[in-house]
Order: sequence, then C-alpha cells, then structure tokens
Amino acid sequence: MNNKLPLSMGWFCPTIGDTTAFGDPSKNIPQSLEHFEKVTRAAEDAGFEYMLIPVSAVCWDAWVVASYLASRTEKMKMLVALKPGHVHPVVHYINLIAGVSEKDAYAEGLVVAKEDRYDQLLEEVELMKRLWTEQNVEHEGKYFQVHGPKILPKTFQQPHPPFFLGGGSEQAAEISAKHSTTHLFWGDYPERIAEQIVEMRERAAKYGRENDINFAMRLQIICRETEEEAWAAADALIAGAENSDLAASVKLAAQSSSVASQRAAELSKTVGRKMTPHLWTGITEVRPGAGVAVVGNPEQVAAQLLEFVDAGCSGFCLSGYPHDEEAERFGRLVMPLLRR
Ligand SMILES: Cc1cc2nc3c(=O)[nH]c(=O)nc-3n(C[C@H](O)[C@H](O)[C@H](O)COP(=O)(O)O)c2cc1C
Repeated sequence: MNNKLPLSMGWFCPTIGDTTAFGDPSKNIPQSLEHFEKVTRAAEDAGFEYMLIPVSAVCWDAWVVASYLASRTEKMKMLVALKPGHVHPVVHYINLIAGVSEKDAYAEGLVVAKEDRYDQLLEEVELMKRLWTEQNVEHEGKYFQVHGPKILPKTFQQPHPPFFLGGGSEQAAEISAKHSTTHLFWGDYPERIAEQIVEMRERAAKYGRENDINFAMRLQIICRETEEEAWAAADALIAGAENSDLAASVKLAAQSSSVASQRAAELSKTVGRKMTPHLWTGITEVRPGAGVAVVGNPEQVAAQLLEFVDAGCSGFCLSGYPHDEEAERFGRLVMPLLRR
C-alpha cells in the first residue's frame, strides 16, 4: 500500500442511486448518506484519492454530500461537479461541466443554450481564480458582478483548487486548454483518445499550458476473478435494461446538444456492445453519461487501463455496480497490478 501509484485515481459517488441490476427495482440501493459513506470508505481503502460527486436534478446535492463525506473519511478528496450558474462563484469548487440537459437548465431557471452555458462557465472559472488569488476583486461581467467580496476561509490548495473539466465539444476543449488541470474523457477507443490528447495539448500550448494539463478517463469497471464471471456480471447488470427508469434519460441525453453524450450514443449504436475484447458499451444503454466499461479479469482490466496510459492519460475516474463492492474488488485485484 505504501508504494504510491504514479496515476491519479478517482472513484464515483452514486448520488444518483446504485443498483446491482438496472430495471429491477428490487435490486436498487436507495440514495442515502450511509451508502455514499460505505462507497467512499471502500474507495479510500482501495487506494483511490478522490471521489467525483455528480450533479443533476436526480442526484442528491453535491455540496452537502461532499461536505459530509469529507468529514467522515481520512484522506479522501472531493471533486464536486459544477454547472454554470448553479452556485454563485463566491462559494464553490469544481469539476466544470456545462450540463447535459437543456430541459433541466430551462426548468432550473439557468442559461439554456449550450454555447451560453459554456460562455457563463468560462466567466465563472476566470472569476473563481481571481477570487481565490486576489483581494478586493471588482468584476462587472455578463453573468456576474462582484465588488470586493470576502472569501473565507482561504482555499486549502494554493493558489487555488485544481479544475477538472468534462465535455466533448470545441468549447469544452477550449476552456479546458485554458483552465483545467485535468481534462476528463468518457470511454472511447484508446487510439481516438490519443489523437484528442495531441490536439488538446496543441490547444493548451496557445496558452503556454501544454505541460500543465493532464488527461484522465472516466470509465466503468466490471472486474471479477475470471473473465467468464466478469461477462456474466456485465450481462446481469443490464438484463432488465429496457425497464430501467434511466433508459428514458439515456434517450434524452442522446438527443441533447452534448457532443460527449452524442458520442456515447453513437458508440452504443454503431459498434455493438463490444468495442474491443474488453471495452463494452452495455451500460450506455441504461445510464446517461459515463457508460463505457472495462470488463475482464484483473490482468485484462489492468492491461486495458494501461492502454489508456500509453495513449497519454495519467489518471482514471472510475465506477462500478454496486459502487462499494466494485471499489473493494478493484483495490484488492487491480490496484496491485497497476502498482507493479
Ligand atoms: C467526465 C465527465 C463528467 C460529467 N459529469 C456531469 C455531471 O455530473 N452532470 C451533468 O449534468 N453532466 C455531466 N457531464 C456532461 C457534460 O455536462 C456534457 O458533456 C455537457 O453537455 C457538455 O457538452 P459537450 O460534450 O458538447 O461539450 C460530464 C461529462 C464528462 C465528460
């Protein structure tokens, strides 16, 4: 456990709910602070460094959950997702995402068009950086006006907390190139990720940041001691897919303007479920967003992750169902192989 992994490893907090079988309500694990804590403790014991706390209309509030989990764990860091305009920049921190749903943005009284959401996100991240590094900030922007607010307590990370960003469009790439410490990709072919990393570094070079930006994969994990067991678990997880409440939200996400969501839908439709011997799109049919899974025995899972490292990634933000058990298995079976 002491030899530190030269990769940045995160696990996902299922504030949207957890399950062992999509579409079978009796297998759902209801949202609760107790379950989120169980998942987070399993991830901490497995050797993960941070938890990704998502935001959506159906997730529990990210800030409340993150604060609770931070107080209940020893070392775990919290990566809180942030949609533009959701919380005023004088109070928050940060996985920058524009949000998938125009419908939700409209419902919540936020800026609706994706271009405008990114425009607001850019103003927001620039304002946050100033608020954390300067005194008496005066800002008269398109979306925010502040006049010397007091920002207390001082941020623990100096000069400010790192920003992550998840999004697949040109606007996402541009904001990430300027501001992210880590750009997150949803699952895709390693070759395609390698191309995107080259392109992103060129973009970052325009801002003198080609060496300041890192890349990480947001993937699902289905790992069992044998490959056969892993595929059986994968099939069982989505056996009732069409009855899942989430299946409808997958369709909605695929129709949204989100390039990342459109790509997930395209992979799911065009390649069948097996993209490669160990990359599987099954979960994209039942869960919007990060659906591509690495399926296999521990050696196969580790080898697949290392292909992404070869492509240029230096970290992973992972999840699996149910989230506590998969984190425990990953820590026991895969972390030692990655360390080696
Ligand atoms: C790694 C990653 C994490 C994301 N997390 C969230 C999230 O927590 N909540 C959400 O509404 N959208 C999330 N998104 C989706 C983005 O909001 C979505 O991709 C957005 O529409 C950006 O549009 P674009 O892909 O066209 O740039 C995430 C995307 C990625 C790649």
